[in-house]
Amino acid sequence: MSVINIALSKGRIYEETLPLFAAAGIEPQDDPSTSRKLILPSNRPDVQFLIVRASDVPTYVQHGGAQIGVVGKDVLMEHGGEGLVEPLDLHIAKCRLMVAGYPDTQLDGQQRLRVATKYVNCTREHFAKHARQVEIIKLYGSMELAPLVSLCDLIVDVVDSGATLAANGLVPLEHIADISSRIVVNRAALKTNNQPISELLQKLEIAVKEKQSA
Ligand code: ATP
Ligand code: PRP
Repeated sequence: MSVINIALSKGRIYEETLPLFAAAGIEPQDDPSTSRKLILPSNRPDVQFLIVRASDVPTYVQHGGAQIGVVGKDVLMEHGGEGLVEPLDLHIAKCRLMVAGYPDTQLDGQQRLRVATKYVNCTREHFAKHARQVEIIKLYGSMELAPLVSLCDLIVDVVDSGATLAANGLVPLEHIADISSRIVVNRAALKTNNQPISELLQKLEIAVKEKQSA
């Protein structure tokens, strides 16, 4: 029996994904918010969950450490998607990838703006598309802090309610992409282990549709 490893991150993705997997008949047998275990068995002997950092999910799936992953579209865009197929939008963890900064920032001025972000590739692509020269500063989190201490002129980050921006005197300035979490599958695994993976995807797709029509 080959085991299907499903990679996902703790926190909002885990919490929002769980009811969908439950509706598809798969339930983890441990709780990552209390357990230190990184492999969680499920009620099915052929399925287990791997708890990884959100930004590492595509890498685990690309290199076959997991056959399936649950990942934000932001992380997926940043990774590039090599070796992955993206068969299903779960419509959870919805937010927007945005350029943000102080309200009076001139995006199209002469000056070369400094942009702080953990989404270096998406940022490069976005500003290149608009033919704007920028200097990109790589951060790993708390992007909203960077303009406040003059580390940068702009940030690129995900925005949901806008509360974090507002609390720091910043505003969204430009939309880059609508974001939700996606199922990704290792391209090779889909060929070699097609039947159990396809069955699982079908069940998840039904669960997503049922949730949306509820
Ligand atoms: P890492 O630990 O790798 O830095 P992270 O801290 O960004 O990842 P989470 O905060 O759990 O991980 O976010 C996971 C995903 O949820 C993001 O990739 C994004 O798609 C989505 N997301 C992030 N922030 C929000 C938000 N405020 N509202 C809704 N969805 C969000
Ligand atoms: C995310 C993101 C923003 C915030 C946006 O942070 O990095 O800071 O959410 O949401 P809002 O528009 O509703 O305020 P998160 O809460 O995941 O914290 P972390 O990335 O620092 O863990």
